[in-house]
Amino acid sequence: MKKVILITGISSGFGKEMSRVLVQKGHVVYGTIRKHCEVAPGVKTVFMELADSYSIQKAVNQILENEGRIDVLINNAGMHSGAPIEDAPEEMYRKQMDINFHGWVNTIKAVLPGMRAQRSGLVINISSIGALTGLPFQGVYTSAKFAVEGISYALRLELKQFNIKVVVVNPGDFKTRNVETREIALKKNSAYEKQFNKSLAIIEKEEGEGKDPVLLARKISRIVDKKNPKYRYLVGSSIQKMAVFFKRIMPERIFTFLISKYYGM
Ligand SMILES: NC(=O)c1ccc[n+]([C@@H]2O[C@H](COP(=O)([O-])OP(=O)(O)OC[C@H]3O[C@@H](n4cnc5c(N)ncnc54)[C@H](OP(=O)(O)O)[C@@H]3O)[C@@H](O)[C@H]2O)c1
Repeated sequence: MKKVILITGISSGFGKEMSRVLVQKGHVVYGTIRKHCEVAPGVKTVFMELADSYSIQKAVNQILENEGRIDVLINNAGMHSGAPIEDAPEEMYRKQMDINFHGWVNTIKAVLPGMRAQRSGLVINISSIGALTGLPFQGVYTSAKFAVEGISYALRLELKQFNIKVVVVNPGDFKTRNVETREIALKKNSAYEKQFNKSLAIIEKEEGEGKDPVLLARKISRIVDKKNPKYRYLVGSSIQKMAVFFKRIMPERIFTFLISKYYGM
């Protein structure tokens, strides 16, 4: 069935591929952008800056005026950061949370009145496998993803009565623009410098060799078509999925030992 879908952040990476795949499936796709960019034929764009709640509401209103409804929200847009917890300045934490958490919550709040009125809807939050395992020097970034995990659990319970479903997707490493755009904070003569560089090189190598984002886009397309989607989908390599499984079943001490070995610590 043809659905009206709002995807945040379609200028690159997952957003770009999701918008292309979903419009090809015959859905009405609106994608958010911050500046003019090329998008797949048929995809409609709206301006949205996640750090600005006014622009979020304006974008949602524009779609509701045009289409009368939004069936699916895919919360995707976001920034990436890398820093030792101690070195990261307060502004970095605030910016990360403003964009990757408050921006997402404001977008959800903007679409919910319409979804409640139509008594149907689907909210897909693109989280991360890192939000299930924890990653060194990614604490600023993953703290926003952990917050998204927390709100998603509550949201799925609160929205059940309105027939609105919440799905969390946890991708592993995919080759997108995240390596180029990651904001880094490392103090001069930082006590963490050697370890940070070593671990970040491993993280960036994995991202550089990551899967094609179109695979995630196709998975999302199948989720959108499902009558009763699961709450959580892990999309990544077998080793990344295994890490989530081990985290669940292993004593914390053993898991911490294994993950620190993996990241050269
Ligand atoms: N790639 C991975 O391996 C991976 C793994 C797990 C989770 N994820 C998650 O997947 C999502 C998409 O990331 P990606 O890897 O596809 O990264 P990406 O290629 O860098 O795309 C990020 C998108 O978000 C937009 N964006 C950034 N800041 C924004 C803001 N303040 N307001 C509005 N839009 C903003 C960007 O638009 P501009 O062009 O205007 O900057 C871009 O369209 C993110 O939530 C990320 O955390 C990615």
